[in-house]
Amino acid sequence: MSFVRTAVAAAAIIVAGCNSSQTNTAMNAADNQTEASIAPVLETPDAKDAASYARPLEARVHHVALDLNVDFETKRLGGTATLDIDRKPDAKEIVLDDKGLEIASITDGSNQPLDYKVGPSDPKLGSPLAISLRPDTNRLIIKYKSAPDAGALQWLTPEQTAGKKKPYLFSQGQAIENRSWIPTQDSPGIRQTWEATIHVPAGLTAVMSAPKAAEPMTQGGESVFTYKMDHSVAPYMIAIAVGDLAFKPLGKRTGVWTEPAMLDRAAAELADTEKMVEAAETLYGPYRWGRYDVLVLPPAFPYGGMENPTLTFLTPTFIAGDKSLVGLVAHELAHSWSGNLVTNANWSDSWLNEGVTSYFENRIMEALYGPKRAAQEAALSFDEMEKAFAEEGINGSNTQLHLGPKEGVPDGGAGGIIYDKGAVFLRTMEKIVGREKWDAYLRSYFDRHAFQPMTSALFLADLRENLVKGDKALEQKLQLDNWLYKPGLPSNVARPDPAAFADVDKAVSAFTAGGPVPAGFSSWTTAEKLRFLNKLPRKLPTARLDQLNKTLKLNDAGNQEVLFAWLDLAIRNRYDPAVPALEHFLTSQGRRKFVRPLIQTLAADNAWGRPIAARVYKVARSSYHPITQRDLDKLKLGS
Ligand code: BES
Ligand code: ZN
Repeated sequence: MSFVRTAVAAAAIIVAGCNSSQTNTAMNAADNQTEASIAPVLETPDAKDAASYARPLEARVHHVALDLNVDFETKRLGGTATLDIDRKPDAKEIVLDDKGLEIASITDGSNQPLDYKVGPSDPKLGSPLAISLRPDTNRLIIKYKSAPDAGALQWLTPEQTAGKKKPYLFSQGQAIENRSWIPTQDSPGIRQTWEATIHVPAGLTAVMSAPKAAEPMTQGGESVFTYKMDHSVAPYMIAIAVGDLAFKPLGKRTGVWTEPAMLDRAAAELADTEKMVEAAETLYGPYRWGRYDVLVLPPAFPYGGMENPTLTFLTPTFIAGDKSLVGLVAHELAHSWSGNLVTNANWSDSWLNEGVTSYFENRIMEALYGPKRAAQEAALSFDEMEKAFAEEGINGSNTQLHLGPKEGVPDGGAGGIIYDKGAVFLRTMEKIVGREKWDAYLRSYFDRHAFQPMTSALFLADLRENLVKGDKALEQKLQLDNWLYKPGLPSNVARPDPAAFADVDKAVSAFTAGGPVPAGFSSWTTAEKLRFLNKLPRKLPTARLDQLNKTLKLNDAGNQEVLFAWLDLAIRNRYDPAVPALEHFLTSQGRRKFVRPLIQTLAADNAWGRPIAARVYKVARSSYHPITQRDLDKLKLGS
């Protein structure tokens, strides 16, 4: 692709934001071409990514080829990255993102050295890596190593794995961590195809977020794995895991990777995965990535899930034995459309990834498990949104879907807004225009923008062009600008059905008024249990907590979401009998959504909680992900 060809496509797509149906046809016809031609979106005013040093309109990476050795001794990935670039003919340099990389040399495609300069390092963003270009330079060969403390990489000792015999490595790129192991332009709008050759000690398996390129080879104590992604993806979607891994098929294009000791349990929990892919396709169009496999990681994995293309990464804490937490799988699968196919151009528009996905997740859950479960999960999500409004203030600038430059930083934004208000927005649109019309629109949106970056402004332009179509009454009813650009909640909001939790809410009122622990609790759905625990007053007398704990066996809850909800309530009441369960929970898994709020709540309670937090963190810190450590170190629990 040349900048000249891109410019032609640019003109076409920029008009698409306005009102031309002719442009649409052009875009659909040019499916393959648009995948490579991202410049048009990057040229729009809202697409600029303040979290990257790259200047993609001058020169940008379009293909990355990695050849890396995995060294567990030194905790480094090292080798070469060969980058193919597109550039303006007069571009003098290309700027990459670099966080702590040790660079040995940079040459061009003919092995001629290129001048380069690593700029000052910002603690969050890392450094700009500016490489001088000669007029004919279109390939860069970078020899380098990642640093032992690379933010994207977690190195586990054998003891930290289920099998206890072999070490383990995994990466987590989102949002801006991949620059700590891949020297490229680490911005979600700069889509790149990629391939990798990975050398690991024999006996270990390397999996990545791309189709396998060839059969693995083992020779001289080393195994070599190759992967190749022919679709252009955001660089945060490049992911790797290395360990003692086994595979079990789940369906014709689905399967699970995990440590052998976990394989059967994981496969049982994931039995519905193939059906989920089918349901998702029925809703919003073809699954475009080939296989959909999942990797169930060791408990140190810092997230619930991560939507790495072709290979979703999952925490093992979703395994409850009864599929009650597989909403997580539906969520990561849905990202194969919202996020991986159509991707937020920068972190001010995270709702385009997470909010659209949360809505889509719920639709998959409805298709598989019926409207009752979906309505309950949607109502819980609505509660999360209301909690965010309570925390941020209804007029807080953090409560807009499109975040301003201050809020829209990579780790910024409140989950209750980006995920839950985002989902409520789409649910409101669905209610106003009707499901059939809404679904047809959303499906066409994914088709029109497949393999492209997206911004709130372009989303609204697309919606107006293809759904509102000049209908003034409808435009007024939807309140689109309020939803995206104003804090709080527009008046047309679709509220959850109060019937979803009618019985549970009665049980909450009864218990709060001094009545009994609900008798049916053990046969309730997980959503019902969570609603109950989350709606109880945050302050309860010890005797009442005792009743809950003894009758409902909450300290022993096997469902990690239920256990988390209980422990939150318990520590707010300095409930000593929950401390052993709390300590076990905080030292046996590292999911950030669980460990961060619990440790933060403990740390804020100087007399009772802080010593517990300090004791636990001393033991647990080394098993937490570098990103989680970075957050929790701020609490200064050691001092
Ligand atoms: N893409 C996110 C994880 C993420 C977001 C990582 C932002 C880094 C920065 C993933 O899809 C996700 O949303 N995971 C959730 C689970 C989901 C069911 C809400 C999680 O990890 O809890
Ligand atoms: Zn997500």
